[in-house]
Amino acid sequence: MQDFKDKAAFVTGGASGIGLATARALARRGARLILADIDATAAAEAAAGLRGEGADAMGLPLNVADEADWARAGEAAAAFGEVRLVFSNAGVGGGSGAFETYDPEVWRWTYAVNAHAHLYACRTFLGAMKASGEPCHLALTSSLVAIVPPPISVAYISSKFATLGIAMALRNELADTNVGISVLCPGMSATNIVATTARLRPVDAEQGQAAQTARNMTGVLAAGMSPDKIGEFVARAIQAGDFFIFTHPEWKEMAQAQFAEIVGAFGASADPDYAGDDIAGLVAANGARRMNVAVGR
Ligand SMILES: NC(=O)c1ccc[n+]([C@@H]2O[C@H](COP(=O)([O-])OP(=O)(O)OC[C@H]3O[C@@H](n4cnc5c(N)ncnc54)[C@H](O)[C@@H]3O)[C@@H](O)[C@H]2O)c1
Repeated sequence: MQDFKDKAAFVTGGASGIGLATARALARRGARLILADIDATAAAEAAAGLRGEGADAMGLPLNVADEADWARAGEAAAAFGEVRLVFSNAGVGGGSGAFETYDPEVWRWTYAVNAHAHLYACRTFLGAMKASGEPCHLALTSSLVAIVPPPISVAYISSKFATLGIAMALRNELADTNVGISVLCPGMSATNIVATTARLRPVDAEQGQAAQTARNMTGVLAAGMSPDKIGEFVARAIQAGDFFIFTHPEWKEMAQAQFAEIVGAFGASADPDYAGDDIAGLVAANGARRMNVAVGR
């Protein structure tokens, strides 16, 4: 998707951080913005800010984890304009005590916001985007922690793996359609995510090790990349048709080491006598037009 002029763009988590910065970058290119966020006041204020900069924008209350809320948001968005670009970006972080101490409610909430919401976004908009036949785009926010997991929150990291997985699988499905897809994988960025997460958490505040990690993250993130830079990279990548959006070059070496380990593991445990899976047959059986990597057999 190259031309954003007068196109309606729906951004979740649009009231703050990477969502708002990307909205601003899209607005600079002429898009009309729907800033959907669980924080209705912040969304309204952010939209007013964009209008002050000359853009057409509206704030919209939406809890991305609530399927029923999406129906209402979809209707409100349709009244604003036919949505051609969806940035499914809202996310929450959280500290990292030992995995066995996770509160199941926090676990479910993290997955609901960071992963399940992408399905709701697609159920709300993707069908109409396909039916329009016009250039459209879907972007999901994952993280570089889904490429190289550092020793922080298992819930957060694995939910970002889910997002990466959704994007990679959906990429096959959207191949050769009018809907492009990207997955944003940033490193650290100076946003409000630690404070937002603490505010929205469904149970009592984190304690002990988890609280300590969250405090440490605040410092690490404060030194991270400006969200404005990331927003500009996202807009450029969508225009260029890039699938992976890796904003932080210092992670490349770690990614190489990680993938070298994975590829290297096709050794002792890989059966040299096996004839091989018929992946080409699998693709054909599912009517998929293509895969994004060459099929081995
Ligand atoms: N900040 C980083 O270092 C970093 C790095 C990699 C990925 N990310 C990802 O970037 C995305 C944006 O986060 P950010 O860093 O800009 O944080 P942020 O807290 O500044 O912005 C996130 C926004 O999402 C909203 N939100 C949270 N839960 C919601 C819900 N249930 N429904 C609707 N809106 C909700 C918040 O109110 C907030 O406005 C997240 O998916 C995050 O995981 C952030």
